[in-house]
Amino acid sequence: MIQAIRGFKDIFGKEAKCWQEIESVIKDCFKLWGFEEVRLPLLEKTELFKRGIGDDTDIVEKEMYTFTDKGGEQITLRPEGTASVIRFFNEHKLYGTDKFFKFFYLGPMFRYERPQKGRLRQFHQAGVEFLGEASPLAELEVITLLFHIINRLGIKNTELKINSLGCSECRSAYRESLLNYYGSKEEQLCDDCKRRLKVNPLRLIDCKSEGCGKLAESAPLVTDFLCQDCKAHFEELKKLLSENGISYKESPYIVRGLDYYNRTVFELHSTDLGAQSALLAGGRYDRLSGSLGGVHIPAVGWAMGIERVYSLINGEDVIKNDKKVFVAFTGKDVENAALSLVYKLRGLNVSTEFDISGGSLKSQLRRADKLCSDWVVIIGENEVKTGNYQLKNMKTGEQKLVVEKELLDCLKN
Ligand code: HAM
Repeated sequence: MIQAIRGFKDIFGKEAKCWQEIESVIKDCFKLWGFEEVRLPLLEKTELFKRGIGDDTDIVEKEMYTFTDKGGEQITLRPEGTASVIRFFNEHKLYGTDKFFKFFYLGPMFRYERPQKGRLRQFHQAGVEFLGEASPLAELEVITLLFHIINRLGIKNTELKINSLGCSECRSAYRESLLNYYGSKEEQLCDDCKRRLKVNPLRLIDCKSEGCGKLAESAPLVTDFLCQDCKAHFEELKKLLSENGISYKESPYIVRGLDYYNRTVFELHSTDLGAQSALLAGGRYDRLSGSLGGVHIPAVGWAMGIERVYSLINGEDVIKNDKKVFVAFTGKDVENAALSLVYKLRGLNVSTEFDISGGSLKSQLRRADKLCSDWVVIIGENEVKTGNYQLKNMKTGEQKLVVEKELLDCLKN
C-alpha cells in the first residue's frame, strides 16, 4: 500500500472533531477583535518568500518545497502566511481604502524540516496580521487577542517572551558589535554559523548547536543597541502589557528565524510541550511591504501552530457534544415514514442518523449504540398507523410513547 509522505499527517475521527472546535473557538475570537478572513493560495512565486523571509534564513535556504511548474516558473508551497498577506494587500491595492487592516488566515503551511514530535512538514497555522498602526497599541491588540484564545481553549502554563530587534540603525551598530565579538571565535562556530557570520550575524544568537549556544550566552545583546525611538517603543509596549494584566518575560535571545522583523518580536511557549515549545510566534514587520515593492505600511502579527495547540488540549473537554438521534425502523413498509422523520429532524438542526441498509431492528439498535446516540426513535407499522413513536433515552434506558410534536420538541436543540 502507498503510504502518506513523511511529515504529512491524516487528521480524522475524534482528532478532526477536536480540530473543528479549536478552529471554531479561534475564529470566534478573531471576530471579536475585528479580524477578517483572507483565503490565500497555497502556492506562490518563490521570489516572494526569498525576498520576504530572507535568502539566508533556514526556511528559504533549506526548508522550502520549491518546484518549477510546467510553464517554467519557480513556485513554492507557502512556508508561512505573512509574506502572502502583504503580497495580497498590495496586489489588490487596498492601501488607502481604510485606516487599518486586520486579516486572519487559517490553513496548511509546508516546510521541509526534520519531522519530530510537534514538528511536521505539513503543519497548520492560524495567523493574524494587523496593518496600518505603528504604535505599540497594535502589538497590544494582537497580544491580548492571543491570550483570549489561549484562555478560551483552556491552555495553561504558558509564558510570553518578548524582545526588541530595533530598527535598521540599531541593527547596524549591533551587527558591528557581533562581528567584533565573534571575529576571534570563528573556529568555534558550527559550519552554518561560519557562513552566517558574513551574511547575517544576528542568526548566530539563536543557533541551536551546543557550541554556538554557549558562545551566544556571552554575546552582546541587541537591547543594549536600541536607539531612543526603539527603546521608547519597547518601554511603552511593556507598560501597556503590564497595565492590561499580561505577564511577559524579556528574552534577548529571541531573534526569530525570519528576516522581516523590526522592533518587537515575541513567542508564546508552553512548559507542557517538549523541545518544540513555541505555540505561537510573531512580531512587527514595518519594512516588509516596502521591501517587496509595495507601499510602506507598519504591520504586526503572529501565527499559532494548531498541531501544538491540539497536543495541549484534552479533546473530550473541547468537543461539543450535540444531541445525537438515531431513527430505527422495522421494515421496508415504514422506511418512508422513517426517512421523512430523519429529514425533518435534520431540518431542525438535530444530528440524526439511520441505517441506510435497513437490517434487523437488533442490528440497527447496535449501530445506534456504536454511534453513541443519545436518543433512539423506533418506528414500526403500529407507530405509523397511530402517529405515536417509541422514544428511548439511551443514557437512562427510559422509553416512552410520544406524538410527533412532542418528539420534535423533545429532540430540538
Ligand atoms: P514561525 O515562528 O515560523 O512564524 O511559526 C509560527 C508557529 O508555527 C510556531 O510557533 C509553531 O507553533 C508553528 N510551526 C512552525 N513550524 C512548524 C512545524 N514544522 N511543525 C509544526 N508547527 C510549526 C511564522 O510563521 C510567522 N509568519 C509568524 C508571524 C505572523 N509573524 C508576523 N505575523
